[in-house]
Amino acid sequence: MDPNLRELADIIVRWIHVIAGIMWVGNSMLFNWLDRNLEQRKGLSPKSFGEIWMLHSGAYYQVEKKMLRPEEYPKILHWFKWQSYTTWLSGISLLLIVYYASGGGSYLVDTNVSKISPDFAMDFGLGTVFGGFIVYDVIWRVLGKRAEKLATALTLALVAAAVWFVPHVLEGRSAFIHVGAMLGTIMAGNVFLHIVPSQRELVLATQKGSADDLSLSKHAKQRSIHNNYFTFPLIFLMVSNHFPSTFSGKYSSVVLAVFIVTGALIRHFMNIRFTWRPALAYLGVTMVVSACTIFFLCRVPKAEATAAPREKIAFSRVELVMQTRCVPCHSHKPSDPSLMAPPNGVMFETPEQIKGYVDKIKLRAVMSKNMPQGNKTNMTEEERDLLGKWILGGANID
Ligand code: HEC
Repeated sequence: MDPNLRELADIIVRWIHVIAGIMWVGNSMLFNWLDRNLEQRKGLSPKSFGEIWMLHSGAYYQVEKKMLRPEEYPKILHWFKWQSYTTWLSGISLLLIVYYASGGGSYLVDTNVSKISPDFAMDFGLGTVFGGFIVYDVIWRVLGKRAEKLATALTLALVAAAVWFVPHVLEGRSAFIHVGAMLGTIMAGNVFLHIVPSQRELVLATQKGSADDLSLSKHAKQRSIHNNYFTFPLIFLMVSNHFPSTFSGKYSSVVLAVFIVTGALIRHFMNIRFTWRPALAYLGVTMVVSACTIFFLCRVPKAEATAAPREKIAFSRVELVMQTRCVPCHSHKPSDPSLMAPPNGVMFETPEQIKGYVDKIKLRAVMSKNMPQGNKTNMTEEERDLLGKWILGGANID
């Protein structure tokens, strides 16, 4: 794909994706909240689940949740499904644009993680996203009605397997986003294949005036609860790309597990906080334990160079390393075919530019070692050591 076209597609699709995602998650949060705050009062019909009053944008809203008699069926009924479909369609497109449309799969490979071919990486990545959904869906189709506990256990095992294997096969950044895409596909699949069809049957039953089939509501609710618990982990995974400390360390699988569990537990707090008094204490403990775990797991190990004796490194040697290992991407006109501008605007073409980024160079190339990206330019340990010693010695550019 032409890099200019790729950049444009990335911008437009990402923009759509974020807006649709906000709408989907926003609706889902509002309806879950409504469900938990419905109030009973005298005079509501027997088909009512309760009523709620709200204040927003300068007026009062009165909302009642209920089943309908055929003659009550409204002329206009809002479904709330396109938010979910749009989010998924734009998300999958974005995944393809960023990781598959150019580079031939090389963005998915980091030889420090596993020695796989780019072709295998692409199969593995898409296999994770779609295979994960298929396994989940089969588990719940087969066991969802008869053995809910077993289905839940198998689902947790599936997520655990993805959390363990994917970061041990794919490059860190793409590993996290692929696990996120798997969860997102499960969620959108639930809406498309289960929640909306159940609602369609419900509407038909209402229009025909047949008795309310509560198993339909139950089926939709079961899948909707799964989506509820996946929401917060998913959102972290979608923004994880900004945090190399989470996906590039030795323990990235554990970090991923902690974020997923924390997200689900915080969502759980929001589900129970109106009905369970100690909920706030529970939230506090969850947050403190998770934050501490994440802090320790994501800390970048001290550079080995700090232990080495100080020696004076000539800047010319450093400049040579930066030229060969970094400048292909970090320059005004990157020679790397996948880039049309320096990533984050960061360039290392002049001594002053290098000097200006010394702290970040140390963090990314010496300590956490997640630059060069996917080690595409084959930087060696000796070269990282050299940069480390040069920085330790005062990072002189004379
Ligand atoms: C194959 C292309 C590529 C190469 C080679 C590369 N980088 Fe990067 N670099 C990127 C991309 C893409 C980003 C933005 C994403 C990120 O922050 O991980 C980035 C971001 C960075 C950042 C973060 C900038 C910020 O605003 O926080 C630093 C620092 C950095 N690179 C340093 C280096 C150093 C030092 C080298 C050489 C040892 C190097 N990079 C080689 C692609 C590359």
